Amino acid sequence: MGQLLLHTAVEVRLLWVLRDLLGVTGPKYGCGLGVCQACTSHINGKAFNPCSVPVSKIAPDDEITTIEGLPATVGKDLHPMQEAWLDLDVAQCGYCQPGQITAAVAKVRQAAADGREIEDRDLDEIRNICRCGTYTRIREAIKAGAKNM
Ligand code: FES
Ligand code: FES
Repeated sequence: MGQLLLHTAVEVRLLWVLRDLLGVTGPKYGCGLGVCQACTSHINGKAFNPCSVPVSKIAPDDEITTIEGLPATVGKDLHPMQEAWLDLDVAQCGYCQPGQITAAVAKVRQAAADGREIEDRDLDEIRNICRCGTYTRIREAIKAGAKNM
């Protein structure tokens, strides 16, 4: 029985640990299958879906950053991408937006690592679903936020 419980514990997906055990509710649950991207957060600075990763796959030195932790990565009250989101009034219901912002930050970082600015082809690769259809404002905000990153 103990082994069964232990096995279950290590197979728990990280999203449930974040939300239900730690009370970190910025990453949203949409599909639980790595499709909707509502739970998008960062692992070691790169986008990933904690709904699809068992806690057993997280190494002790892996750094997980959710939307709550983004401002601390720049030492401010808000990350520049969050400021751009507010400036352009992107959110509608808001449910998808933490995932949209964390995906955007990762994309801009990825482009910067390649020595270039973010382009439309990068934005085309973002797969986060928004049922409110805020895609046009999201794209504008990513370009605006990228300028201040
Ligand atoms: S809840 Fe994680 S991708 Fe949908
Ligand atoms: S703002 Fe409502 S789902 Fe995106």
